Amino acid sequence: MSSPYSLLTTKDLSKEKILHLFSRASLFKSEFKKSNQFLQKNFESLNKTLAFVFFENSTRTRMSFQMAAYRLGLKVISMDSITNSSITKGESQLDTILNIDAMKPDLFVIRCGDSFNLKEIAPQLSVPTINAGSGATAHPTQALLDCFTLYETRRPMSQFRVLIVGDVRYSRVASSNFNLLQQMGAEVGVCGPESLMPDQEKFPHVKVFKKLDEGLDWANVCMILRIQLERHDAGSLKLPSLSSYHEIFGVTPERLKAFDSDGIIMHPGPINHGVELSTETLKDPRCVVLNQVENGVYTRAALMEDIILSSNNGGNLG
Ligand code: CP
Repeated sequence: MSSPYSLLTTKDLSKEKILHLFSRASLFKSEFKKSNQFLQKNFESLNKTLAFVFFENSTRTRMSFQMAAYRLGLKVISMDSITNSSITKGESQLDTILNIDAMKPDLFVIRCGDSFNLKEIAPQLSVPTINAGSGATAHPTQALLDCFTLYETRRPMSQFRVLIVGDVRYSRVASSNFNLLQQMGAEVGVCGPESLMPDQEKFPHVKVFKKLDEGLDWANVCMILRIQLERHDAGSLKLPSLSSYHEIFGVTPERLKAFDSDGIIMHPGPINHGVELSTETLKDPRCVVLNQVENGVYTRAALMEDIILSSNNGGNLG
């Protein structure tokens, strides 16, 4: 059994660990397809309770963690938003977490903004933490589910050329995917407004495409991102409007005519229709957006199972 670990960034995962998680996620998926439940593991007898704390809004991440926990037989206590918490009375986010920690949950799942220093705070907690998205910095479970969605095609990861399109600079999905995809052997390129491109020195092995058509010509995976207007204002686009953005960088059926016929179109959600893509793009047979969401349940189940089993009191469920 491995030692307990937190998942704060994709750098916390070895390739061996990633492959183990993918193998468990595949098993959960095939079991669920056959029997509408996970047969392999059931934590009910261990009476484990997880604390989900979401300081920022979420639909997919929060609900797929919950779905995965319930299917594993885990219990969940949840702080779904700041507005129904004592933060409205002036309590700090740090005090909030320390108080929940005092209730002795078995695992934390935390989403937070850049002002909450997860890297510094997680080691102060008595149990492991999973980062469910931290500011513009990291979203490791999104990268895991994205990478698993490519991995389950059974094509070698080294054959994937992934073009990340849009607001790369402010995207935690992009930064986590740079690390994970490259670690697994895929090539990564980016395309978007110059002001939203990442610092080249931080990501030296990433190809930069100024024109979307050139990027789509190179890639066989197109990962489209939302513009993170909650993290910067529209002025950062240096374009007159969101419709000009759509004209230059929006992924449309017209643009996708030249894209690899076996290519894969991804988006982590939520989507702003008519901005980063047109609604018709979602109907393209190469589009796997809802498969990504489904795979989020299996990969998060695999991760929670692994972390709980690796912690001291996890027990061995065989
Ligand atoms: N992809 C993602 O993190 O979506 P939510 O913000 O809805 O969780």
